[in-house]
Amino acid sequence: MTNGNDFVELEECISNPGFTEHGAEESRDSTEKNRGTTEENRESTEETRDSTATSVDPTGGGQQDACTEYTQIKPYAGMPKEVLLLYSSQARYRVPRQILFWLLILCVLALVALTITVIALSPPCLGWWRASPLYQIYPRSFRDSDGDGVGDLKGIIEQLSHFEYLNIKSVWISPFYRSPMRDFGYDVEDFREVDPVFGTMQDFEELLAQMHNRGLKLIMDFIPNHTSDRHRWFNLSRSRDEHYKDYYLWTDCNATAPRPNNWVSVFGNSSWTYDEVRGQCYLHQFLKEQPDLNFRNPHVRREMIDILRFWLEKGVDGFRMAAVKRLLEASHLRSEPLTDPSKPPEAFPSQWELHHDYTTSQLGLHQLLQEWRAEMDVYSREPGRYRFMVTESYDHEEVDKTMMYYGSPLVKESDFPFNFYLLDLPRNPSGLWVQHLVLLWMSNMPAGRWPNWVVGNHDNGRIASSAGRGYTRVINMLILTLPGTPTTYYGEEIGMENINIPHSQIQDPAGKYNPSAGRDPQRSPMQWTGDMNAGFSNVTNATWLPVHPDYSSVNVETQKADSGSVLAQYRLLSRLRQSELPLQRGWFCPVHADTNVFSFLRELDGLDHAFLVLLNFGKEATVTDLSAVAELPDWLTVVMTTASGAGGRRLPKASLPSEAGEGLVLQYSSGRRYHARPDARCFVSEKACYLRVVNLLYKC
Ligand code: NOJ
Ligand code: MG
Repeated sequence: MTNGNDFVELEECISNPGFTEHGAEESRDSTEKNRGTTEENRESTEETRDSTATSVDPTGGGQQDACTEYTQIKPYAGMPKEVLLLYSSQARYRVPRQILFWLLILCVLALVALTITVIALSPPCLGWWRASPLYQIYPRSFRDSDGDGVGDLKGIIEQLSHFEYLNIKSVWISPFYRSPMRDFGYDVEDFREVDPVFGTMQDFEELLAQMHNRGLKLIMDFIPNHTSDRHRWFNLSRSRDEHYKDYYLWTDCNATAPRPNNWVSVFGNSSWTYDEVRGQCYLHQFLKEQPDLNFRNPHVRREMIDILRFWLEKGVDGFRMAAVKRLLEASHLRSEPLTDPSKPPEAFPSQWELHHDYTTSQLGLHQLLQEWRAEMDVYSREPGRYRFMVTESYDHEEVDKTMMYYGSPLVKESDFPFNFYLLDLPRNPSGLWVQHLVLLWMSNMPAGRWPNWVVGNHDNGRIASSAGRGYTRVINMLILTLPGTPTTYYGEEIGMENINIPHSQIQDPAGKYNPSAGRDPQRSPMQWTGDMNAGFSNVTNATWLPVHPDYSSVNVETQKADSGSVLAQYRLLSRLRQSELPLQRGWFCPVHADTNVFSFLRELDGLDHAFLVLLNFGKEATVTDLSAVAELPDWLTVVMTTASGAGGRRLPKASLPSEAGEGLVLQYSSGRRYHARPDARCFVSEKACYLRVVNLLYKC
């Protein structure tokens, strides 16, 4: 055992490591020096020095023995702190310790620096609304769970696995608010209730919970422009309740000829209707049962924000903002100019015969959207809960107006305005025309924003019918390989087509006014199986609209079993889009367009593989020669074709064959990038590059 005195001896020996090896004299000298530093300790212990210490021979011999003894002691487990400290100050322990310490610090700093660099260089992850196609459900027609012939929320719950099958994460459900259904839910009686035909609020909450459990996002329709004439606000407004009297747009008019100006409703006829209760006319840009709200009234603005909050708090993931260009009207109520000024002013114009200078896109509209966006941003701050906004505005040739809904670099509005230009595709199906429509969006979109593509919805005839069944697959391939978010209207994944509706069975108010403008044909029940009612409704025979007669072959169940079906190809493309970086966020470069073919590249810097997409929208089979595209290698590999040929084939770039309506995705490797060409017309959103050595995607 050691005691305090032993430590002094030990200290002496340790601080004089040469003591036992050199002469006593020399050792004593150095001991003397050291002694100076420990003089005080020594004094305090002098008197209590034990026999071991006093036995040190003054000549040095005894001390030498003692030190030999001490230095032979190895550090041992459980040694007291003092002993440990004495050893640890020895150079042979101290130096390696310090080296290790600094090495550790260096490693930590290097790791921190590396982490910061990787984070700083990493491109932002693609938000959910970018990463997945957007699927639109028209709830009356998706799946009827209670057998009344009309689809409902529980029916959607029953079919949620369909989205997993398709690799789709974002689902937009058209309105299910309480409504008298004059415009099938777009005439809202209560923005905070679910219509009984669709189920209950509990069903909605169950649907949302189940969707979130499966990683799916739910987008609702938000319909701010108007309410139903059965809404409580309208009843209070027509009876001139002090608070509600200006919730809508009222003006004096003649009860027998109620036309304060020439404004017309989208569904036809004047947009003014005389109300006997109030003795004035009210404005409705759609049906007379859909009075327009007055957004110049701050109470109305507040009400609509509260409604947004109501659903955001329930947890919905986004809104499709309906008919936004009509939110405000000019207060002066002057008649709109005629497109054909030679027409007599008293003639009743259609909506196509007026310049809608006073009823659409009025000053203040974007401010409203920005307010809503800001409100949604508040709810987007919860981690992983980004709330998405898409706006609906048909601006046709006025593409600049559409692009304004993206907002400015400083003030954001929608994540994207719907791109409806591809709906025009059947007008002139050709490679050149499709290229024109695609570039219309890409070249007008503000820098850095995210594109999107719509080829169908509940308001427009199914493009598979207008373009022709033979083009369904190539159209799906187009929207799933272009940059941006594709929208798929229910049934497009199996190639559903319009139904024929006899005049006597027309349901849609627009169709009742003008049968050729009716929207029933594209709203027929979803075709799930070859069973009764296409599996849409198991009980009743009377579905709200007839099922398409082709349902025995065009249905989900049959197509799941067929690897060459429209559905199988949709699924393959959706997976490819999700798994391939060049398709998700690579450059888009058109390389060829003619009467038949439109062809483009998707490439990402640093990645050695890229894709060539070749789509034949024409009426003939053709062979495309891309030998002028020097960046392409001579041979490319077919990843998939919409025709019957197998993937894996190699095709020469000088001779790429395609059938009418065929689409091909080809893969190739090349060190050369087309977008780097000085004459290239390429586009990229969310640009990123790939660093192969460390398998890293970075901002570039
Ligand atoms: C936009 C909707 O998409 C359409 O279906 C509806 O008729 C109008 N808003 C009017 O509510
Ligand atoms: Mg309005």
